[in-house]
Amino acid sequence: ALSQETINVIKSTVPVLEVHGVTITSTFYKNMFDTHPELLNIFNHANQSQGRQQTALANMVLAAAKNIDQLESVLPAVIQVAHKHRGLGVKAEHYPIVGKHLLEAIKEVLGDAATDEIINAWAEAYGVIAQVFIDIEANMYNLAKDQVGGWEEFKELEVVDKVKESDVITSFYFKAKDGQPLPVYEPGQYITVKVNIPGEKYALNRQYSLSCAPGNKYYRISVKRETDFQPNGKVSNYLHDHLNVGDTIEVSAPAGDFTLNMDETAPVAFISGGVGLTPLMSMLEALVKNDSDRKVTFIHSARHEGVHAFNKEACELAGKLQHGSCRYGYQDPVNKDGEHDFSGYITKEFLADMISKDTICYVCGPVSFLKNVIRMLSDLGVPEENIRYEFFGPAIALEKV
Ligand code: HEM
Repeated sequence: ALSQETINVIKSTVPVLEVHGVTITSTFYKNMFDTHPELLNIFNHANQSQGRQQTALANMVLAAAKNIDQLESVLPAVIQVAHKHRGLGVKAEHYPIVGKHLLEAIKEVLGDAATDEIINAWAEAYGVIAQVFIDIEANMYNLAKDQVGGWEEFKELEVVDKVKESDVITSFYFKAKDGQPLPVYEPGQYITVKVNIPGEKYALNRQYSLSCAPGNKYYRISVKRETDFQPNGKVSNYLHDHLNVGDTIEVSAPAGDFTLNMDETAPVAFISGGVGLTPLMSMLEALVKNDSDRKVTFIHSARHEGVHAFNKEACELAGKLQHGSCRYGYQDPVNKDGEHDFSGYITKEFLADMISKDTICYVCGPVSFLKNVIRMLSDLGVPEENIRYEFFGPAIALEKV
């Protein structure tokens, strides 16, 4: 345990460091990647260049340091990141590298104020924080490996089917190349795919939700071709254009804590925007497979008919449930006479008809969609713990929801 003195030093320096969060982070990444370019096979270059991920790691170290005497208060956030780390193959041996460069960045920012006492205190505190991650992640790696058909980091899977779901979304079905069964997972979890694209110096990793229920003979991801958003679109375009039936791809074991709680019995609503429907498709199918008698409402908003994936499948699945229903609408219907339940954005009045105060809501989609839906649900009296959401991209972007 840390001494009270060390804790005091840490707590008194956090505010100064918080002010310089961006400087710390950019110094830290630059120096780390200069010394350890191989880490660019793990980190997302797109996030780096857009500055989105830039501050997430350092901010979390600062947040943890602030709570160093009650680390259990940051545990839920740690677990979420640990899932992400485990899905990317972050290992114990990486922590000292991150620690060294973070400490050097802190030193640089503090300048003359960086006494030995301060630097030693930070080294100690980082060690404690890193150990919390390392232990949780080691446990996650063991659990993944010990599953039937399970593995620790990446495994070669073979594409056994490729299905176009809409103008922009295509599904890929995978089986293990070695014929082993694929481990079960929790509905809502994602996998990481690691690809080496010709012309790219480093491997690229992207995380995609599994879009079917656990317990099938295959895994399925449904990938949106990103066009507005280079370089984030590199991997999705590569998969759409070049990954075909018979090809193999490196895939992590399923990870993530945005999952359906199968023990609950209250009514449940799945509310998605765009490609955010993928984890919710997995949850919906899982309830069908379980022959659930919960009241289930699947609500989906797409830009228009052309980009609406799973329109038949979602409603068919909902139709198989004892108390299931499905509603979808388009922000901008191309065919205004075509079938849909709402036009424009999802409104509070619409949601008020669909849910009650005791409905558990799983929400997934782009940031603006999430923010709006979460606000409307809480206005309608749905308690915070029953509004469960996942945003596709670094969690940091959601901090101010
Ligand atoms: C992502 C924290 C150590 C690699 C993240 C995120 C946080 C974080 C908050 C963002 C999660 C999100 O976007 O949802 C930390 C903390 C660490 C630590 C507090 C130390 C105590 C490491 C280490 C590595 C690593 C040792 C490996 C070298 C990554 C990667 C991502 C990530 C690759 C994904 C985002 C990206 O590709 O830029 N981490 N991390 N982290 N972390 Fe860590």
